[in-house]
Amino acid sequence: MSLEEVKSYINSIRRDFADRPLNEDAVSKNPFKQYAVWFEEAVGSQILDPYAMCLSTATKEGRPSSRIVYMRDIIDEQFVFYTNYKSQKGIELAENPFASLNIHWGELERQIRIEGKVTKVSPSISDTYFKARPKESKIGAWASHQSCQLLNREALENNVKLLEEKYKDTSDIPRPEFWGGYQLNPTRIEFWQGRPNRLHDRIVFTKENGEWRLSRVSP
Ligand SMILES: Cc1cc2nc3c(=O)[nH]c(=O)nc-3n(C[C@H](O)[C@H](O)[C@H](O)COP(=O)(O)O)c2cc1C
Repeated sequence: MSLEEVKSYINSIRRDFADRPLNEDAVSKNPFKQYAVWFEEAVGSQILDPYAMCLSTATKEGRPSSRIVYMRDIIDEQFVFYTNYKSQKGIELAENPFASLNIHWGELERQIRIEGKVTKVSPSISDTYFKARPKESKIGAWASHQSCQLLNREALENNVKLLEEKYKDTSDIPRPEFWGGYQLNPTRIEFWQGRPNRLHDRIVFTKENGEWRLSRVSP
């Protein structure tokens, strides 16, 4: 497609949403229970990577950046993901711990928006997760200086070869200190359900004094 064809295509599409309501009565009083209900439906709908989420971070000056990461755990009502602490997201989280997550399950016409503060998980939690990864992923974590400029693809593959040689007799590879988990402690979780005529349902949970409060906002 040419760019002109792309423009014409996106201008010609107007898809309405199905009529699957999200009512206050039917929503769990706890957003994590509600997340589990929706997650089960996402798995049942064979959505690819239902645990993928868009993570947005920002510099201390408020310049945002977004990327997809995998949710790998939920610990004490916090969403956990793993990455390189020296990556762009790691640098941004070190100077500004506030971040948001967005989960879009298009096949179900749903999104979940999550906002909160991020901290590192404990080294022992990161160690346990790293230990359980396949050897190739462990080597990948060591080999990649995530977000740093690379001369070419070969440079990365040479790093991998050197590490494969170094660890050829063992799969007991230590976790790099620059790699581990983060946990986002949410203060706002929104469940969004597409409805006809753009009159979508938006149910919002906000945490106040340790309690989740439920409200509805306009689409
Ligand atoms: C489906 C999918 C899952 C991903 N999961 C992760 C992940 O769990 N951790 C991670 O560091 N990067 C993951 N990535 C790569 C990130 O999107 C991103 O390229 C990388 O983390 C560097 O981001 P940064 O330079 O903004 O720090 C994933 C990408 C995709 C498309």
